[in-house]
Amino acid sequence: MSSVIVLGAQWGDEGKGKIVDYLAQQADVVVRYSGGSNAGHTVVVNDIAYKLRLLPSGVLFKEKFNVLGNGVVINPGVVLQEIAGMKEKGISCENLVISDRAHVVLPYHQRLDELQEAALGDKKIGTTKGGIGPCYMDKVARVGIRMCDLMEPETFAAKLKVNLEVKNAIITKIYGGEPFDYDTVLQEYLGYAEQLRPHVVDTGVVLDEAFADEKKVLFEGAQATFLDIDHGTYPYVTSSNPTAGNASVGAGIGPRFIDHCVGVVKAYTSRVGEGPFMTELHDTDGPGHTIRETGHEYGTVTGRPRRIGWLDAFMLRYSARVNSLDYLAITRLDILDQMPKIKMCVGYKMGDEVIKRIPASLNVLAKCEPIYEEFEGWMTDISGIRKYEELPENARKYLERLSEVAGVELGIVSVGPNREQTIVLKELF
Ligand code: GDP
Ligand code: IMO
Ligand code: MG
Repeated sequence: MSSVIVLGAQWGDEGKGKIVDYLAQQADVVVRYSGGSNAGHTVVVNDIAYKLRLLPSGVLFKEKFNVLGNGVVINPGVVLQEIAGMKEKGISCENLVISDRAHVVLPYHQRLDELQEAALGDKKIGTTKGGIGPCYMDKVARVGIRMCDLMEPETFAAKLKVNLEVKNAIITKIYGGEPFDYDTVLQEYLGYAEQLRPHVVDTGVVLDEAFADEKKVLFEGAQATFLDIDHGTYPYVTSSNPTAGNASVGAGIGPRFIDHCVGVVKAYTSRVGEGPFMTELHDTDGPGHTIRETGHEYGTVTGRPRRIGWLDAFMLRYSARVNSLDYLAITRLDILDQMPKIKMCVGYKMGDEVIKRIPASLNVLAKCEPIYEEFEGWMTDISGIRKYEELPENARKYLERLSEVAGVELGIVSVGPNREQTIVLKELF
């Protein structure tokens, strides 16, 4: 048995898709366990970019099994669009299974997401407006609609009727928004149900069988540790648990099936949406601007410019603890190739006091300042390098300090988006 979780150690968009695709070469099954179409994972193979939102990044391999676990929220229209897009590229998606216990995102979730954000004004979260939060709200409130309900037309029709009455009342009376027509939503979703039916199964059982057959399983995290509803910078977080513990709950398997956890780390930091960001660079013509433009740091799902900052290695220490990280996969090191000086945050201080833990309170966090170390850049194109020893000495110094502060070994260093632009220090399977 061998299984590895690959998850984001920062605020998302670390390059999880790239690392999952790389490791999927040796795996048999790839499983998404949390989040929904708020994820945007780009996988580049032979210079062709595949942008995935709900489909696991293993779909590019015809022979691998791909699973959307019970912890994922499914927007049927998005999945079907993605499957259609893949078919156009010659990828059948026949090996995709979707949990019958996964919750369904409905149009009222999306509208409520938009209305709630608008009502928050300058306190908005900056969500992807995909209805993810409202769908998880319904799940926890025990009024959600699951894939198994969608598969039973009468059950779905009855649940939709009750929910739509309540949601339309909230939409119109509280937010002054436009209500939904019951029959239109019903027909749209019954159409989706028939198209998705061949994919919907008890995925926990599928995984149990995979483990019994000694298959290698990869758990693909979406979002990231600092967007986690429990461990992130609450309330500026997503509505699910991207952290390692949820790989078990969100995939429907016992925790003893999980062997290792890899934290994916961008060589600097980015964040989309609102919320604290200790090492953020606010310049318009300095290093922040350079990194954003060199790295094309604009959201895959929303196209929003990503907020950019120096690497915060102190955050990684927290990620390491919360997720029991075994290894780090550092991505986008090549984006720093032409930076003459690079800073890294190695701790936080409050006044003169160096603090040991990241505070829960955002008020206390706002009083903290990053402690920086400065590194000489390497000023060399590293995108063609495939061996760790061949990286410039300054790049290795940067990586080794990062690993030291995080307290986690380096497992992978990625120097470009393509599959082969990957330096492996530790074999993970
Ligand atoms: P994810 O959400 O964590 O999967 O990350 P995204 O796909 O949203 O953003 C990461 C971006 O970086 C994608 O466009 C990847 O193709 C790209 N990428 C991943 N690793 C590397 C790397 O090492 N170097 C460069 N230049 N790009 C990378
Ligand atoms: P991947 O998997 C980066 C952010 C949103 C917002 C907050 C809540 O590509 O790394 P939501 O729509 O989930 O309610 O938004 O979370 N967010 C992400 N940021 N990468 C993601 O996914 C994200 N998914 C959600 O920008 O701040
Ligand atoms: Mg992304």
